[in-house]
Parts: sequence; structure tokens; C-alpha cells
Amino acid sequence: MSFSQRHLLGIETLSPTEIRTLLDLSETYVDLNRSEAKHADALKGLTQINMFFEASTRTQASFELAGKRLGADVMNMTLQASSIKKGETLIDTALTLNAMHPDLLVVRHPHSGAVNLLAEKVNCAVLNAGDGRHEHPTQALLDALTIRRAKGRLHRLRIAICGDIAHSRVARSNIFLLGKMENRVTLIGPPTLMPAGVAEWGVEVTDDMAAGLKDADVVMMLRLQKERMDGGFIPSEREYYHRFGLDAAKLAYAAEDAIVMHPGPMNRGVEIDGTIADDINRSVIQEQVEMGVAVRMAAMELLARNLKASRADGGVMV
Ligand code: NCD
Repeated sequence: MSFSQRHLLGIETLSPTEIRTLLDLSETYVDLNRSEAKHADALKGLTQINMFFEASTRTQASFELAGKRLGADVMNMTLQASSIKKGETLIDTALTLNAMHPDLLVVRHPHSGAVNLLAEKVNCAVLNAGDGRHEHPTQALLDALTIRRAKGRLHRLRIAICGDIAHSRVARSNIFLLGKMENRVTLIGPPTLMPAGVAEWGVEVTDDMAAGLKDADVVMMLRLQKERMDGGFIPSEREYYHRFGLDAAKLAYAAEDAIVMHPGPMNRGVEIDGTIADDINRSVIQEQVEMGVAVRMAAMELLARNLKASRADGGVMV
């Protein structure tokens, strides 16, 4: 099989073939999710635990739906309800859950690297649902599926990623994925919101929307991640919108048939004009949400297959 991962911790370690395998399987789930009886049994008998140590709407809901539609027993844990509040460490919480024999652990955590650490301590498949500013692999995969369906291909496209790149795990995972599939990626944003070392990422970088959006096939907008900022990164939201907010005038620099994307949650009037976000001829934001369920079903199915194969071999998942 052309997907040999034990965990889905990031895009960085996936091959282009593995990405294609995952997207192709997702397509079958897009069809299933549009049908009346949305059920399959790829995860039948398996237990999926969702551990979210950070707020989430789309990601948590879609992982839950994805697991249920594939027949898993799904349990949700949130930070508020867990013993983390009583001082238990992440690893102790993980080991406690591990003792309940989960098969799939879906984890979101505010610290970069926390999910990788956890994956070393449990013997089930771990899916990263976003760790700090590090990676958010299923978001990049759902973005890729959305792009591939809208543009008919996932290579040789011009893609502009705009906004708070420095704090964005969505940007990092997308840059890895789009680079592996041989696209031309331009990052646009104020220098204060560009990560250190960006020059080595194999992307173009600019603080000028007109130059960066020129002829773009895909315009991906990002939220200002204020929860990860510890100082004044922008003069004011008004000033930011003026220079970097996507409105009709700025979108006109992109290709005539450019699509507009946003991972959500959106701040209308800060990084994007509400009418652009709602324009069904340009915006694929709702499709992104739809693709999210299908991609998470495919990711969990592929990991579950590998888990079962490794258990059948008597292999220990570490
Ligand atoms: C993103 C995230 O949590 O990284 N949201 C998401 O998963 N759809 C982006 C964000 O929070 O701005």
C-alpha cells in the first residue's frame, strides 16, 4: 500500500505518493458524505479519542463526524474537563488514556512538538489536529483536496498565502504540501509576521499585496493569531486591513478565476472582506469545511489499516 505512516504528525514526512493516495481515498468519502446513508465500516470496533487542549470548532466537529461515519466509538475530551486543570502532565494524561486501549488518538495542543512527544508514549495511531505553530496536517490535506477539485490539478499552480505566517501551523503544513507537489508559493504579509528562516523555505516572500497576488490561481487568507502573539506585531487592525485585508480591489490582481480560501475562524473586516468570503463564485471556504470531513475519514482509515497490519504482525506500535 502506498501509505506507510503509523501516525499523521505532519506533512513534512509524507511523500507525494502518500499525499495522492490520501486525497484519492478522500474523494470516495466526499461522495459517501453527500449520500443519504453516510456510513461505512472502516473503523468498526475501533476506539477514537479526541483530545483538544485548545479551542476548535471545525477540526473537532469534523474528526468526530468522520469517526462516527466510519463506525468507531468516539470520545471527546476537552481541556476544561480533563485533569490537566488539576496539574496532570500531558504525558500522564496520555498514558491514562492509553490504558483504555484507544486505536486512534486525535490531539490538538498549544505547544509545538507536544503531539510528536505524545506519539512516542502511546501504542495507537496519533493524528495531529494542530500543535502550536508547528503543523496541522489534515488542514493542509483538506486544502489540497479543495484546490485539486476546483482547479483540476495540484501542481504548477501559483498560490499566495497571506497574513500571519509566523504563528500559523496551517501555513507551515501548506507550504510543505504545496512545495512537494511542485507549486509556486508566495507568502504575503508584514515582515513582523514572517517566521525566522523563511528565506530557506523555497518560497517567495513579499509585503506587497499587489505584487504577491499577481496572477495567483489560489489566494489563501490567514487569521491574525493573537493568542500566539506576545507584543505589538501590527500597528492596528484598521491599518492591517488597509494593507493586507483581501477586498475586491486587491483580489483583482489575482488571476480572473482565482479561488479564495480561509481555514477559519474568519475575522471579517480584519483579514478578509465579508462580501468576498461569501461570494460563491470566488470563495471555496464552505467546500474546505466539507472536504475536512472526507480527508479525516481517509486519514483515519489509512492509519487504522496500518495499525491492524502491525498488530497482526505482532509488531508493537511505538
Ligand atoms: C486553524 C488552526 O486552528 O490552526 N483553524 C482550523 O483548524 N480550521 C487556523 C486558525 O486558528 O486561525
